[in-house]
Amino acid sequence: MPPTGTTPLIALLGLFLLGTALHIHAEAVSGNARGQPSQRLSRRMPLSMSSILVLLLLFLGWSYDLQTQELVAHPIDWLIIKAKKQSDDWANQASASQNVAECVQEYQRRYQRHPPPGFDAWYRYATARNSVVIDDYDTMMEDLLPFWGISPAEIRLRTQQVISDPWNEVSEIIIRNGHAGLGPDFLPTHRWMLDGAINLVKDFSSYLPDMVVTFNLNDEPRVAVPYKDLQELRGLAIGTPKYLRQTARHSWSANRAATWHIPDDLGSTRPFEDHSRTNAFSAGAVACPPSSFAQRATSWDSSTLCTSCAAPHSHGVFLSNWTLSASPCHQPDLRNLHGFYLSPAAFKPSHQLLPIFSQSKVDGYADILYPSPWNYIDKIFYNATDEHPDPPFAEKASSLFWRGATSEGVSRQGTWKGMTRQRLVHLANNLTTVPTSRSPTLPVLLPNAQGKYTYQTLPHTNPITALNLSLDISIVDGIARAWDNDGAAQDAEFGFAPPTDFQDHWRHRYLMDVDGAGFSGRFLPFLQSKSLPFRAGIFRSWWDGRLTAWRHFVPVDVRLHGLFSTLAYFTGTPGPASGGEGDGAAVGKGVVLTEGNVEAGEEIAEAGREWAGKVLRKEDMEIYMFRLLLEWGRLTDDKRDEIGFVV
Ligand SMILES: *[C@@H]1O[C@H](CO)[C@@H](O)[C@H](O)[C@H]1NC(C)=O
Ligand SMILES: *[C@@H]1O[C@H](CO)[C@@H](O)[C@H](O)[C@H]1NC(C)=O
Ligand SMILES: *[C@@H]1O[C@H](CO)[C@@H](O)[C@H](O)[C@H]1NC(C)=O
Ligand SMILES: *[C@@H]1O[C@H](CO)[C@@H](O)[C@H](O)[C@H]1NC(C)=O
Repeated sequence: MPPTGTTPLIALLGLFLLGTALHIHAEAVSGNARGQPSQRLSRRMPLSMSSILVLLLLFLGWSYDLQTQELVAHPIDWLIIKAKKQSDDWANQASASQNVAECVQEYQRRYQRHPPPGFDAWYRYATARNSVVIDDYDTMMEDLLPFWGISPAEIRLRTQQVISDPWNEVSEIIIRNGHAGLGPDFLPTHRWMLDGAINLVKDFSSYLPDMVVTFNLNDEPRVAVPYKDLQELRGLAIGTPKYLRQTARHSWSANRAATWHIPDDLGSTRPFEDHSRTNAFSAGAVACPPSSFAQRATSWDSSTLCTSCAAPHSHGVFLSNWTLSASPCHQPDLRNLHGFYLSPAAFKPSHQLLPIFSQSKVDGYADILYPSPWNYIDKIFYNATDEHPDPPFAEKASSLFWRGATSEGVSRQGTWKGMTRQRLVHLANNLTTVPTSRSPTLPVLLPNAQGKYTYQTLPHTNPITALNLSLDISIVDGIARAWDNDGAAQDAEFGFAPPTDFQDHWRHRYLMDVDGAGFSGRFLPFLQSKSLPFRAGIFRSWWDGRLTAWRHFVPVDVRLHGLFSTLAYFTGTPGPASGGEGDGAAVGKGVVLTEGNVEAGEEIAEAGREWAGKVLRKEDMEIYMFRLLLEWGRLTDDKRDEIGFVV
């Protein structure tokens, strides 16, 4: 850090290769014209000479880059343009088919199977509710794919295993004769979740076959299948072309209810192990290939920023690939950077492929994502009123706002220092950038007097003041989830804020969103507002495939090293401190006053709001759940290879 741009290097190399090619071509043409054999060309430009030239140019490019390190255009401009195209392309392919026949054809093309029985009813349900997403259910199918590798009877048996013991913290809803109901045993504390799930399916339950659906009651995901096993299951699932027969029977097997009965001898071994409050990283990293960085590096020294961990999904300090940024496989340092990995409050995972429906998961887990009842039954929701208005973007305060609890994980032996929420609060309020040989000061990408962008380091004391970014980020009330001395240690470190009304958020232009123990339930209301959400997190939900980072929200690496550079792009920079007093002068050197790209921020805020109003409505949650349960009905049907919907 700071990152050095490779673009000039690549451009130089590209020009050189192009020039060489043109030269050789010209030689060949003139050589042929003179009737000389073209073989002689290789002697005119020996390999050693061209490689020396390449090395020379590489060196020139490198030193040029090192000396100036200036960027003419801001990387975020480019990321925004790219995201716009990406999200347009996604939307076009997600809603291409115009009628049920085309939809079936598209389904068969994508997933090499017939759609499940009841697909026509689903299509009518979705189109009657103006669903924009008709064709692209790739993430759902990805979740379900490994289950094609085990038999329907085995899936049902594992279903009974996970609900047979309340210790498992899994509860079911039972679908019988077109109605959904609670199972016999459920934890009263989680009744809202099951009631929410029942509510979610009630409008279409008459189309569902008899079955049992098992829900994870914890925020943390549960199913971490080792890489090799998962590859094997996927191989079994896609390896057979038999599924696309000419015809299929459009009905469920008779007598399905009887196939779900609880066998007498379930065995006494528990399918889950309790790993609460211990480092959970390696439990999930088993899903990474053995050659991956995460599998090879069993530890990471947390006093060093792992730039090579961030590089694959970054452009400079900016996050450029949101999907990839969730993968633990190239990021062994994540083990110390998130509460879920450091010390999850409730973590009972299994390495066996178990049928568990979860509200969110981190990359590598094989839980099946479903729309969270938390959002569906409005546990938290967007409700701007006269008392709590949501003014136009330009009229909001130019500040980044966050309030929350320290609920990401349970801190023991200082693990709070790595948790994203605590690091965020520390960075915003208590940052000191004392340079050491291993960790220089925090570089921030800022414009200079020539209108170019350079990474500049902040003064050692009071760096935030120098940047003049308005940050309003606090833990509410006090410390939660801390054991031993960790509560007192955090009390000494952090300041606290009184609780605020959730609807007060809309006063701020920029809203910070980070994970809690699982996904953040607030993100959807943030998206629906006229404010711009900044999102840092590794948890992903059913809708993540529908959103595009930099188009609908602003992504931030969980390391938070790019947060100030990202914020400065939108808010502008203070310019040289004219008085030359105190620390302000240090950052002012070479920095010019910039207005900030307020319009770019407003455009993303609006695009996110509009898109959420199209694809993340409650109707969309129902449509997703309807299709998911038809797929689940088929997966658990003994005749699953013979049934389906064909036009
Ligand atoms: C992000 O990374 C994934 C996984 O490597 C890749 O498939 C995808 O194309 C990348 N997306 C972009 C926009 O580069
Ligand atoms: C939204 O807020 C208003 C004013 O506080 C309140 O009267 C109303 O009930 C709220 N809406 C819902 C759906 O709760
Ligand atoms: C950290 O910042 C907060 C908010 O400004 C303040 O209340 C707290 O005392 C600071 N902590 C330390 C150790 O300086
Ligand atoms: C810092 O920000 C405040 C409010 O956002 C503004 O009034 C002030 O002029 C800024 N200072 C500089 C040096 O730009």
